[in-house]
Amino acid sequence: MSNTGFPACVCLFVVCCFGCSGAMPTKTNQEAINDRPVIGILTQLVSDEVMKPFGRTYIPASYVKYIESGGSRVMPIRLTLSTAEYENIFKKINGLLLIGGAVDLQTSEFAKVAKIFYNLALKANDRGEFFPIWGTCMGMQLLTVLVAGENLLANTTAENIAMPLNLTTEASSSRMFAGLSDELMKALSREPLTGNFHHYGLTVKTFQENEKLRTFFSVLSTNVAQNGALFISTLEGKKYPFYGVQWHPEVNRFQWDRKLNFPHSLHAVQLSAQLAEFFVQEGRRSLHQFDNPEEEASSLIYNYTPVYAANFTGYEQIYFF
Ligand SMILES: *[C@@H]1O[C@H](CO)[C@@H](O)[C@H](O)[C@H]1NC(C)=O
Ligand SMILES: *[C@@H]1O[C@H](CO)[C@@H](O)[C@H](O)[C@H]1NC(C)=O
Ligand SMILES: *[C@@H]1O[C@H](CO)[C@@H](O)[C@H](O)[C@H]1NC(C)=O
Repeated sequence: MSNTGFPACVCLFVVCCFGCSGAMPTKTNQEAINDRPVIGILTQLVSDEVMKPFGRTYIPASYVKYIESGGSRVMPIRLTLSTAEYENIFKKINGLLLIGGAVDLQTSEFAKVAKIFYNLALKANDRGEFFPIWGTCMGMQLLTVLVAGENLLANTTAENIAMPLNLTTEASSSRMFAGLSDELMKALSREPLTGNFHHYGLTVKTFQENEKLRTFFSVLSTNVAQNGALFISTLEGKKYPFYGVQWHPEVNRFQWDRKLNFPHSLHAVQLSAQLAEFFVQEGRRSLHQFDNPEEEASSLIYNYTPVYAANFTGYEQIYFF
């Protein structure tokens, strides 16, 4: 899909930060809740020639709208900061979204910055400080590289195709799908509600053979690639609030290119909405916050204006930085 500017995943990499601003968290059922979350989204390096005139890094607006639709604000996170600056940002945001894209999962700036946040999130959760991470497409692939400590991805091409999920038995007891109605779960397993735009993924066989991955994640769904490979399409951390989808929930509501198979049915829209709400609700459990309202305001995506991009990419709008 390079001619459309919609990167076939080696995936989009979005970091969502959920940040609390100013307000004191309220206590509900013994757990403190932060109703003003800010999710961080890691920017992607621009590589597509047609996008170069606009900036060095970007975030497709669909991911931003996805997080905003769940009731959070978004902080874009640059790839050019120091480790100390990322550590500082981590203390302010309430979750991270790793978006799709097409970069090296070990040597790219995107991968290096994601690793800093991943390690901070592991340590934070270990000391009882809730911090969720969601990886979509390449973001999910990157999570598997971070957990395994090596790149185990294989050709599992599913390019421009919408599919139902082959749900595992663990899906019914998962956190990610817990809020979905029986009707929506049934639709998810029968109707093509999940848009796939990827070349690489984790095969079920590789997952089962890798102890680190097997211990860390529950597999919630699998799918069959265009080359026949059985790949993992949805993952959830057993102990950590880390989530991965090889498909693109954000496109169901926020991308409309006619050449791309974006699911737009009522069930597809409901799925996208409920997963966004689920992840933002995870972010509300993080009590990180900015030092003051001014610092918070200047960090948010609201300081930027997206560019109309439907006439030169597969996206409707893109934020450039
Ligand atoms: C569905 O997943 C199961 C494992 O959970 C696998 O054995 C089966 O082959 C898959 N079927 C399809 C059609 O993907
Ligand atoms: C993946 O496999 C398919 C089908 O065998 C092939 O057409 C495609 O070129 C391969 N892609 C990559 C990235 O190796
Ligand atoms: C896309 O549309 C915008 C606004 O209508 C226009 O300014 C821009 O030149 C167009 N870009 C291309 C590559 O056609």
